[in-house]
Amino acid sequence: MYPPPAAPIRWPAEAIWEAVAPVLPGFTVEVLPQLDSTNTELMRRFRAAGPDACAPVLLVAEQQTAGRGRMGRSWQSSVGDSLTFSLGLPLKPADWSGLSLAVGISIAESLEPGNPAAPAIRLKWPNDLWLGNTSGESKLAGVLVETANWGEQRYVVIGVGINVRPMAQPLTPAGAGQPPALAPGALQTLLPGIDVAQTLLRVAAPLVQAVQAFGLFGFAPFQARYAARDALAGRAVQLSDGTQGVAHGVGENGALLVHTAAGMKEITSSEVSVRPVTPPTAGSARPC
Ligand code: BTN
Repeated sequence: MYPPPAAPIRWPAEAIWEAVAPVLPGFTVEVLPQLDSTNTELMRRFRAAGPDACAPVLLVAEQQTAGRGRMGRSWQSSVGDSLTFSLGLPLKPADWSGLSLAVGISIAESLEPGNPAAPAIRLKWPNDLWLGNTSGESKLAGVLVETANWGEQRYVVIGVGINVRPMAQPLTPAGAGQPPALAPGALQTLLPGIDVAQTLLRVAAPLVQAVQAFGLFGFAPFQARYAARDALAGRAVQLSDGTQGVAHGVGENGALLVHTAAGMKEITSSEVSVRPVTPPTAGSARPC
């Protein structure tokens, strides 16, 4: 017995285009059945055609064969389980710091609107969305921001992967010297029955708005919204260079503030990884 063929996904490309095109001239939506990586593809297009390929585009791949995460990690996904897309557009903020945080805030607020006192979706600096609380956390989504220049023209590719259905496939083991990855979460545990197409419809237009606002005003207007969902605030953390401290939120520029034995440290480099360390008294926290 073979499993029945999966029904085709009905992508809301037109509805997204109608919501976004009036505020982002030249915007298009493209859905492809398979790609190596939506980020890689948009970077390839930009490098091949330069500023001519600069029109804003939302590129969705039903399946990625070489999805990429931060710090050289891979991003595993399968058709219908995971939403994978990239938004590519020209952008000229005065300061780029905090863009991945602004993207995370937008996605979290679209998926869990309102102002919940104890949000289920929280943000783990600098690019993760986590589901749950300290007694059970999983990774709901990740953001990969990449930029390219062509003369004066600056192009940004914002890649987003969201785990929508619980994944059947096992996790890839962590690379040598890397901490084990947090188990993937699933949006359906928060929003039962939601699928990848409905998820895209919820997040796409607000994401464009958030990126445009970031281009104009930078990270500062997002700072308080980040604080409301900060997964690390007040927690003992360890940086990839071994430094330990307690996370104290983020500054106006999106830098992570960590109180260490040597004083307050501002972490700006996205090449630094940060993970919570289980406090000796909090036996229920899950290591990640
Ligand atoms: C991370 O958690 O390190 C970031 C993961 C980003 C994954 C998305 S999926 C769509 C886009 N294409 C990629 O190859 N990566 C991003």
